[in-house]
Amino acid sequence: MTVKLNEKDKRMLQGEYGKATKLAMSILVRMAEVYGAEEMMDVALAHIDGVGLLSEASLEFAETLATLGGRVAIPTTLNMVPLDIQQWEKWKIPEDYAHRALRQIRAYINMGCIPTCTCAPYQGYLTPRFGQQIAWAESNAIVYANSVLGARTNRYGDYIDICAAITGRVPKYGLHLKANRRGQLLLRLVDIEPAWMKSDTFYPLLGHFLGRTAGDKIPVIEGLPAQVTDDQLKALGAAAASSGAVALFHAVGVTPEAHTLEEAFQNEPPEGVIDVHPDDLVAAQKELSTAEADAPLDAVVLGCPHFSFTEFQQLAQIIQAQGGQSIHSGVQFVVLTNQLTLSLLQRSNLITLLTSFGIQIVLDTCDFHCPILHSETKVIMTNSGKQAYYAPGELGVQVALGTMADCVRSAIKGRVVRSETPWTES
Ligand code: F3S
Repeated sequence: MTVKLNEKDKRMLQGEYGKATKLAMSILVRMAEVYGAEEMMDVALAHIDGVGLLSEASLEFAETLATLGGRVAIPTTLNMVPLDIQQWEKWKIPEDYAHRALRQIRAYINMGCIPTCTCAPYQGYLTPRFGQQIAWAESNAIVYANSVLGARTNRYGDYIDICAAITGRVPKYGLHLKANRRGQLLLRLVDIEPAWMKSDTFYPLLGHFLGRTAGDKIPVIEGLPAQVTDDQLKALGAAAASSGAVALFHAVGVTPEAHTLEEAFQNEPPEGVIDVHPDDLVAAQKELSTAEADAPLDAVVLGCPHFSFTEFQQLAQIIQAQGGQSIHSGVQFVVLTNQLTLSLLQRSNLITLLTSFGIQIVLDTCDFHCPILHSETKVIMTNSGKQAYYAPGELGVQVALGTMADCVRSAIKGRVVRSETPWTES
């Protein structure tokens, strides 16, 4: 099928806007052909994941575009990058790796990207609006933008993201179109006490189940409390986009395209109905927890996706409740976040409490892309479904998934301390 191009698209393809734009547009037109899109459309914002993974090819691609005069046409934020820009020396990162990573980041900044360096761009700068057409990469950011904010993006991948940013155009298909945002599967929460939904492990476990069950379909959740927080929805979406390819979920009475069940399904019947029982969540926790209870603990990793200021406030409260105890000498306690949140922390009264407890605050990056954890790390603990899902494969470690409070108590004791059911405190 030939893609219908407007005059500006054609001029971009012919090179009138420079070589980088020509290259970016030719990649996007090819993508439109692959997906069977009939035409191109404008996007208002972009978020770049391609800056995070460092390889010879990724560096060459970014530097080539920048050298060819590539410039983003729309406000464009950066995802996490391959190192903590300010304090990478502290993490014993090989100099050659660091210099190539810094060159890659510089190439994107030179193209006009905003160096937010976070995988939670929706909790910072340039949060998309309801209905806004955007081109975002990074799976957890995509599902949050679509589901919680009601912005519209497909699951853009590395390198297509910067092409969309340079041209401000994408193929018109998929989740950019309202008809394709209709709910497909109904998930009903059954026998789950409202109190359980306050536990911070409830959301990653539900997300893990959601991803496993829905795959790439659009699930509609019935039964979530209206008071669910942004951080809880962040945890749910990140887990669902890891165990499955969920790019959009609706939660009836919570998310903006699902005021009612009928609205979520656009007045069509669901393709299937699945009941979620407490046992499903217990099973999800077992699946995500490969470490034995009581196993010696090497590290705690929080902030996957990047920690928000309100999550730091919760963590500080939990630490305060431990009555001055500090982290076990054999445990590394890492919290991943971004520069914006750190500046809020530095203005608050929390930073001294957190660092004197022994917490290492890591900016801009991710433990899967940067060697932050000690090389001898064998067992980690986290409250993140996404971290728990990928860590065995990415880091070769065993994982325990628990609440934030479980993580703090385990860090103090130096071993995994966790309740058997996800919603009771240990
Ligand atoms: Fe962010 Fe890395 Fe987790 S990119 S979402 S901290 S896996």
